Amino acid sequence: MQNIDLLGAAHDVLLNAYAPYSRFRVGCALEGESGTVYTGCNVENASYGLTICAERVAIGSAVAAGEQRFKRLVLVSDASEPVAPCGACREVLREFGPTLVVESHGGSGATVRWTIDQLLPGSFKLPGSEHRS
Ligand code: THU
Repeated sequence: MQNIDLLGAAHDVLLNAYAPYSRFRVGCALEGESGTVYTGCNVENASYGLTICAERVAIGSAVAAGEQRFKRLVLVSDASEPVAPCGACREVLREFGPTLVVESHGGSGATVRWTIDQLLPGSFKLPGSEHRS
């Protein structure tokens, strides 16, 4: 499943972003271990703090569809440089994707790749839980 067009899927879903406050659209495509692709865009709210980032929308969609293990997440936005996932999204991605690779593409063509450990070193684990390691 190497040739799945995650970048194309991320660009497509970016067009559905609901971002009337920041005017900054983000799209992402998440590849599950099954090969299924889940997408997400940011969904803002008049109560700004309730905004949901593209990454968390994609994770929620995947989990609701029954998939919890992921290979790769591709992120795109309106910025010319690659955007990095916010802190909240790093925690959520870590919950489900300890081996996930995150790849962010800027409009200029620049690309950055991170492992989850690079994004969130020394992450919180609930003592005694079955949190994935
Ligand atoms: N945003 C994302 O959706 N993902 C990120 O990785 C960074 C930020 C969104 C949240 C908000 O709607 C807008 O970008 C500006 O912060």
